[in-house]
Amino acid sequence: MAGVTKGSERPIGIFDSGLGGLSVLADLIVERPHDHYLYYADTHYAPYGIKSREDLEKRVLEVADQLVTSGIRLLVIACNTATSAAVETIRKKTAIPVVGMEPALKPAVVGSAGNTILVAATPLTLREKKFASLMEQWRGSNRVLLLPCPGLVEIIEKEGPDASEVDEKLKTLVAPYECEEIHRLVLGCTHYVLIRHKWQQLMGDNVQLIDGNKGTLRQVMRLLQEEGNPAETRVTLKSSSLKPETIEHMQHILVKQLILRGITEDFIQQHITFFTEEE
Ligand code: DGL
Repeated sequence: MAGVTKGSERPIGIFDSGLGGLSVLADLIVERPHDHYLYYADTHYAPYGIKSREDLEKRVLEVADQLVTSGIRLLVIACNTATSAAVETIRKKTAIPVVGMEPALKPAVVGSAGNTILVAATPLTLREKKFASLMEQWRGSNRVLLLPCPGLVEIIEKEGPDASEVDEKLKTLVAPYECEEIHRLVLGCTHYVLIRHKWQQLMGDNVQLIDGNKGTLRQVMRLLQEEGNPAETRVTLKSSSLKPETIEHMQHILVKQLILRGITEDFIQQHITFFTEEE
């Protein structure tokens, strides 16, 4: 893997089909506040998870190419679906390091035998080869049940993570499962991390929720460990959306995610400078 340019002022590029990757960006800002981040939401093309692999790969390559050309020094694909469809090709085509995401099945099964694990992700993620090999490698003696969630990302994008429509959709999706039988739930889509508390409420406190954000963060930190930090926090939000209010909505969700992680509004106001760029 190519190394990150040392001490660079070039931003870290992060993208997703929309809002989901903001949960990853929030984790990164908490861990590494003094850096420059460029977040791209491919809102106009969302959702990714119900597209064909071929169509999605083509689109994701375009987005990655745009970001790399804009001068980022590291690319984080904050989307399990985009990673499934295109990470190998992106890595072949780009000289900067690329960090992808996958449903956190490995952390969910470590030290676990004979447990029931439910993996929630988009239809595309669950039907791709990448997930099949993950299952083969890590399932062990556990019972792994799959929960594709078509329609959920659309509701989160359209109505926002707090909307009551999200609760209704979740209830319908989870209805066929006996929550008492489930030990762990893997949130295999970054959008689902934005509604973590809703999953927990629905599944009950005995179900442990696991997502891929921590693993992604670890990988990014490992790649950046030798770098000095730029002095100020700078976050640029971009979207392919045609609606002018999208960026403001993204900023609102990001601030909420930061506050949830213990960052104060004062800190945000004093240290984080938001730039917005629309296509
Ligand atoms: N947030 C993306 C993921 O982690 C998927 C969203 C979509 O279907 O567009 O898989």
